[in-house]
Amino acid sequence: MPLAPHTLGIFMRLTSKTGLTVLAVLAVALPLCVAANPVLEGYRAPAKAENAAFKDFSAAAGQKFYNAKGATLSCASCHTDSPLAAGKHASTSKDIPPLAPSANPKRFTDAANVERWFKRNCNDVLKRVCTAQEKGDFMAYVLSVK
Ligand code: HEC
Repeated sequence: MPLAPHTLGIFMRLTSKTGLTVLAVLAVALPLCVAANPVLEGYRAPAKAENAAFKDFSAAAGQKFYNAKGATLSCASCHTDSPLAAGKHASTSKDIPPLAPSANPKRFTDAANVERWFKRNCNDVLKRVCTAQEKGDFMAYVLSVK
């Protein structure tokens, strides 16, 4: 049976509405997919306050920082050479789940927890707190590892 023009009209109106809905959903969802991590975004203002010339965080600098040794330890000492791998605490041998969100989605979702561990681990490795630039670089690297 051929479609009556009326039915066709309803059909077209429905599909164009659905099409709009699909577009609207995509418009909202796509930026969320590519959006940077909110905890990382939170380090931008402090980084700018530390250094007016601050432009962006660098995954390459973060990778260097991850592997750089302080007096005795590096971040890699406990978190292993790869943020994708499960680590072990250098002195207590306690298991440490992977740092990279691609291997462990719970990572870098809780700003207070991230800040707490940056404080503690930076002090262990560098005997000082990390700068916002160092934290952001570190995160940019760990977030980029797939
Ligand atoms: C002496 C061992 C040790 C070293 C060295 C170490 N960490 Fe950690 N790190 C831990 C432990 C233990 C935890 C908490 C347990 C966990 O979350 O799996 C942790 C967790 C973290 C977290 C929390 C991430 C999240 O969202 O859960 C961050 C960030 C972090 N470390 C950064 C660093 C950085 C940066 C360095 C190098 C400056 C470093 N760590 C060096 C042991 C270490």
